[in-house]
Amino acid sequence: MSRVRYGTHVFMYPMPVTLLGVNVGNRPNFMALGWVSRVNANPPLVGCGVAKNHYTNKGVIENRTFSIGIPTVSMLEKTDYCGLASGKLFDKSALFEVFYGDLGSAPMIAECPLSMECRLAQTIENPSNNFYIGEIVASYTEEKYLTGGHPDIKKINPLLLTMPDNRYWTVGEYAGDAWKAGMAMKNQSEK
Ligand SMILES: Cc1cc2nc3c(=O)[nH]c(=O)nc-3n(C[C@H](O)[C@H](O)[C@H](O)COP(=O)(O)O)c2cc1C
Repeated sequence: MSRVRYGTHVFMYPMPVTLLGVNVGNRPNFMALGWVSRVNANPPLVGCGVAKNHYTNKGVIENRTFSIGIPTVSMLEKTDYCGLASGKLFDKSALFEVFYGDLGSAPMIAECPLSMECRLAQTIENPSNNFYIGEIVASYTEEKYLTGGHPDIKKINPLLLTMPDNRYWTVGEYAGDAWKAGMAMKNQSEK
């Protein structure tokens, strides 16, 4: 077997496709965001890597709030548009039906099956990107996306992203239960 070296690509594989929402001068702006991660459990913190030249930075700095929406597959074209068109040159405020939650300044997208409303907790400045860490103050969904009271990935039908081939994917089949599938092995192998 010949192992191939593949540079230093950040293989978070796949990535979720999300929409980062901010208000700039009271006008909503949304950018596609794949560099997004859980950061802390309690309080619930989420981190977003945003290139320093993006218009979105203005809104985060202005209000210290932002939203993260999970688009469904039928929103692919609009989501990609948000990843191609900058708010510097394009008005993306009328693309979606917008609603606001407790913070009042983090625009969320009604069509997104899931939305998280965040208050900026910390900014880590990296060479090319700002890493915004936000505390989730509330999240929103609709009854139709729930099964047994919990978000159902099949109903939500989110988009996934692979880089560097830059392609969107949908979620495949259920493969097993987390924190359970390895339990018998753990029990047998205890010292
Ligand atoms: C699928 C996809 C994911 C993206 N993910 C990110 C990301 O995580 N961070 C980032 O800085 N830019 C990302 N981009 C690029 C921005 O969304 C894009 O440059 C956008 O136009 C910036 O909008 P703004 O200038 O209105 O903030 C992504 C683009 C696409 C198509």
